[in-house]
Amino acid sequence: MIDAKDYLKKMSAELDGPIKSYIGDEEPKKLMDASKQYPYAGGKRMRPAMAVACCGAVGGDKSKAVPLAVAVEYIHNFTLIHDDLMDGDKVRRGMPTIHVGYGEPTAILAGDALFAKAFQIICDLDVPAERMRDALRYISQAVWDLARGQQMDVNNEGQLVTEDVYIETIKLKTSVLFAAAAAGGAIVGGADEKTVRAINEYAIELGLGFQMFDDYLGIAGDPSKTGKSVGNDIRKGKCTCMVIHALNNIKDPAELEEFKSVLGNLDATDEQCARAKDIMEKAGSIEYGLNLARQKVDIAKSKIAFLPETEEKEFMLALADYSINREV
Ligand code: IPE
Ligand code: IPE
Ligand code: MG
Ligand code: MG
Repeated sequence: MIDAKDYLKKMSAELDGPIKSYIGDEEPKKLMDASKQYPYAGGKRMRPAMAVACCGAVGGDKSKAVPLAVAVEYIHNFTLIHDDLMDGDKVRRGMPTIHVGYGEPTAILAGDALFAKAFQIICDLDVPAERMRDALRYISQAVWDLARGQQMDVNNEGQLVTEDVYIETIKLKTSVLFAAAAAGGAIVGGADEKTVRAINEYAIELGLGFQMFDDYLGIAGDPSKTGKSVGNDIRKGKCTCMVIHALNNIKDPAELEEFKSVLGNLDATDEQCARAKDIMEKAGSIEYGLNLARQKVDIAKSKIAFLPETEEKEFMLALADYSINREV
């Protein structure tokens, strides 16, 4: 059995050199430093690992997928910079976020710069032009959809939306980039259309489970491990599936009142957020959300059952489980 965390670490180490090879010593230094911070610090690097694995899982030469993998990680990091600015979050990967460390104008520019660089990197793909075009279609569509998802996420703040709206939101803000990495890797690996579609669906479902679990970590995670602050989704009134469930299922009127008084309260203390979490737990909302995430991961795994048995497929399956079984 492959241990997804170990395998990710190994792939992340292999991708480290390529990831760091694209930003030189240009001026202005402040923009370069700001642009480098996230890619160089490195997070889990799940998306680039997925791109490389999907290429290998369809019988492709994995080294050919590396520029695509790096490009996807740059896009991911660009979205994180802008996301932190939008969410008003102050720490990521255990460091001050870019707008905190360098100011908002530089954070906007660093995001833009990484976004542009991603497409430059894709030009380095050593694959037939038709495949590069197909991969580009997935990636550019993903960034477009991601922007839609992020706007929906902001629109949902402080609103009681339906679970369907929540799922559509996280599909757009999170799943589509995983899917572009996965489908892009498969395309670079020379997969046929049906296989690319199945791999795309695998990553969409994985991404849903991943984001649901991320929302759980945002409520119940250990900030010293996640490197992100906990409780801010509650303070901002983010409408996650656990929050939706809680608002519909808290039985005790006093607890419902208390929960509502914390939700969307930017000044809520850590203790109040912890109380909100306890109330959710009692209402079964945490378990409900975790179960939903498990269901999505099971669907994800079923989508790639048909792939031949390879180390890469094993990793893809393990990665799906890891998405909802992690501390970071
Ligand atoms: C964070 O993604 C943003 C979300 C989509 C929730 P990751 O959890 O993959 O972030 P890093 O790259 O590992 O830091
Ligand atoms: C993640 O959004 C989606 C993107 C970055 C596009 P979140 O706001 O839910 O993720 P974290 O918790 O800040 O990483
Ligand atoms: Mg955020
Ligand atoms: Mg956000």
